[in-house]
Amino acid sequence: MKFSSCLLNTAALLLGSNVAAEVFIVDNDTPTSLQVLLPLAAGKKVLGITTNLGDYDTEAATYEAAMALSPGNLTSCVPVYKGAEQPLVLDYNTYHLWQDLYGSIVWQGAWDKTYESPVPANATFEYNKTVGAPQWIMDTVKNSKDNVTIVAAGTMTNLAIALAQWPEMAEKVKLVIMGGYVDGQMAQVTGGDFVNDLYSDFNLMIDPEAAQRALSASWRELVIVGNISSQVFPTQNLYNELVAVSGGLATIENKTSLAYVKETVGNGTLPSFNLPYWDEVASAIAAAPDIVTGSYEAYVSVDTSFSSPFYGSLRMVPSDLRAKKGVKTGKATMITSIDVDKFNDLIVDALVRDWTNYCTIGNAPSVAIL
Ligand SMILES: *[C@@H]1O[C@H](CO)[C@@H](O)[C@H](O)[C@H]1NC(C)=O
Ligand SMILES: *[C@@H]1O[C@H](CO)[C@@H](O)[C@H](O)[C@H]1NC(C)=O
Ligand SMILES: *[C@@H]1O[C@H](CO)[C@@H](O)[C@H](O)[C@H]1NC(C)=O
Ligand SMILES: *[C@@H]1O[C@H](CO)[C@@H](O)[C@H](O)[C@H]1NC(C)=O
Ligand SMILES: *[C@@H]1O[C@H](CO)[C@@H](O)[C@H](O)[C@H]1NC(C)=O
Ligand SMILES: *[C@@H]1O[C@H](CO)[C@@H](O)[C@H](O)[C@H]1NC(C)=O
Ligand SMILES: *[C@@H]1O[C@H](CO)[C@@H](O)[C@H](O)[C@H]1NC(C)=O
Repeated sequence: MKFSSCLLNTAALLLGSNVAAEVFIVDNDTPTSLQVLLPLAAGKKVLGITTNLGDYDTEAATYEAAMALSPGNLTSCVPVYKGAEQPLVLDYNTYHLWQDLYGSIVWQGAWDKTYESPVPANATFEYNKTVGAPQWIMDTVKNSKDNVTIVAAGTMTNLAIALAQWPEMAEKVKLVIMGGYVDGQMAQVTGGDFVNDLYSDFNLMIDPEAAQRALSASWRELVIVGNISSQVFPTQNLYNELVAVSGGLATIENKTSLAYVKETVGNGTLPSFNLPYWDEVASAIAAAPDIVTGSYEAYVSVDTSFSSPFYGSLRMVPSDLRAKKGVKTGKATMITSIDVDKFNDLIVDALVRDWTNYCTIGNAPSVAIL
C-alpha cells in the first residue's frame, strides 16, 4: 500500500467513525423475530429488546422476545430487558370499570378475564436481569454516540417512566410507533368486531397516561404508523415467494439456517385466520423509511380523561388551535401509505438469510437461491 493511499484510508476511517450511525431499540409487548431482523437486514444495529404489558403480561412478553431471537442464534448479541409490569394509572379493575361505562374493547390482551400466559410451565429463557428496561433505555440513549431510533409497538409505559426522570431524552431519539389510528369510527361501526379491533388503539388504551406523556414529548422525530399498519397482511403470494427462494418446503424443513422461514410459512399455506403485519410495518418504516409513499404532519395528543369514550385514543388538532397551557401536543408524521411490494421484499430479504453467525461476524448472508 502506498503512503498516500494509506493516509486516505486512515482519513476515511476517522471520518467513518465520526458519522453517527443509526441504532435501534425494540420496545414491545409482543416481540417477533421480524421486528429485529428487519433493522438488522437494513444494516442497523439492534441494541436490545425491551418489554412491557399488553397482549401478554410482561414476563410472557420477555419470553416471546427470547423466543424471537433463539432461532437465529441472536441471543448473545441482542440483549432483552424486562420493563413495566403495569400501566402508570390504570389497573385491571379500572380497565374493566371503564368498559362497564363505555362498552367492551374487542381485544383485551393480558387483562382479558380469560387470559392465559403463553409461557410453557417448564420454559427456561434468558434475559438481562441487572437493570430494568426504563433505566436501560435511559443509559443507552445517554451513552450512545449514534442516533437512536426506538420502535415502540406496545404500551408507552417504559418510555413514560424514562421521560419522567429525563424529559430531554426525547430530543436525542427518533420514535416510531405502531398504532395511533384516526378517523376509524365509521369502519369500526360498520365492519364488525374484527375491523373494530383493527382500529382500536389497544396499546394506547391500556396505558393512556403513558401514551400521552410519550407522544407529547419533544422527540427528534416522531413517526406514527397509524392506520396503515392495520391494512397490510401476510398473503399467499408472499408465502409462495418465501418457499420458492428458499428452495422448496423440503429444504426449509431440513435446514437450520431457514428456521425463520419455517416459523413463518409452516406448511406453506396461509392460515385462514390471518392478522395484519402491525408491528412489522412499524419496524420496516423505521428501518427503511423509503417504503413510505404517503404521509402528513399533525399535532397529536392522547385523551387522558377517564370519563370519556375516547380515553386512550389519539386526537389530532390543527396547529393554530393547540392549547397554549393545557393539553400538550407532539408534532408527528402520520403515515398514510407504503409500497407494499417493497415491504414484502424486505420481509423475504430478512427471513431468507443465515443468521446463525451474525453475533460473531456481524452479518447474515442471504441463502436465497433465486
Ligand atoms: C443523526 O441525527 C442528526 C441530527 O438529527 C442528523 O443530522 C443525521 O443525519 C443523523 N444521522 C443518521 C445516520 O441518521
Ligand atoms: C416442556 O414440556 C413439553 C410438553 O409437556 C415437552 O414437549 C418439552 O420437551 C418440555 N421442555 C423442556 C425443556 O423440558
Ligand atoms: C446486562 O446489562 C448491563 C447493562 O447494560 C450490562 O452492563 C451487562 O454487561 C449485561 N450483562 C450481560 C451478561 O450481558
Ligand atoms: C383510517 O382508516 C379508516 C378505515 O379504513 C378510514 O376510513 C380512514 O379514512 C383512515 N383515515 C386516514 C386519515 O387515513
Ligand atoms: C436433509 O439434509 C441432510 C444433510 O444435510 C441430507 O442427508 C438429507 O438427505 C436431507 N433430507 C431431505 C429430505 O432433503
Ligand atoms: C397447513 O397449515 C394451515 C395453517 O396452519 C392449516 O390450516 C392447514 O390445515 C394445513 N394443511 C395441511 C395439508 O396440513
Ligand atoms: C451461535 O453464536 C455463537 C456466538 O454468539 C457462536 O459461537 C456459535 O458458533 C453460533 N452457533 C452456531 C450453531 O452457529
